[in-house]
Amino acid sequence: MSEEEKKDINPEPQEGPGENPENGEEKEPVDILPEPGVKRVNRRGFIGKVLVGAGAAFGLELGYAGFRLMATKPVGEKKPVQLSLSQLPEGSRTTVLYGGNKVEVIRDEHGRISALSMVCTHLGCLVIWKDEEHTYHCPCHDAYFDENGGVISGPPTQPLEEIPVTVSGNTVTIGG
Ligand code: FES
Repeated sequence: MSEEEKKDINPEPQEGPGENPENGEEKEPVDILPEPGVKRVNRRGFIGKVLVGAGAAFGLELGYAGFRLMATKPVGEKKPVQLSLSQLPEGSRTTVLYGGNKVEVIRDEHGRISALSMVCTHLGCLVIWKDEEHTYHCPCHDAYFDENGGVISGPPTQPLEEIPVTVSGNTVTIGG
């Protein structure tokens, strides 16, 4: 087959300015050059970036959920916890599990006994007693509570939960 015959069967697309080779109509001119300072992203790159972003968001969500699970266990049945007075010398702090969460039992220098939930009232992280500052600190969002559980600073609006304590003879009952 000669070159002439080939051209008749498969005519080369016309590349005239603004002319559509399929129907001969005028095409809208397309700006193919990005504006200065604008980075052009092709489809594959765009989809890759969307997938990476979605994966990162999913990973963050999973991490946060895992952290919450570690910080607070699901609230179980709130069975009272009993200690003997000898387990609570004056000026001491003892941690017990009450309803699946950490509670600190405090006996001050005057013998008064109280109990505070260690679950931050903001989003449920565990607070830490800072002995040198006499405060509870929540590391999650840098909140501080005073020694009675009152909010000093940070996002929480509610004090730490006070757990009722009763003393009968030599037995201290937390919760109930
Ligand atoms: S969870 Fe404690 S300050 Fe946010």
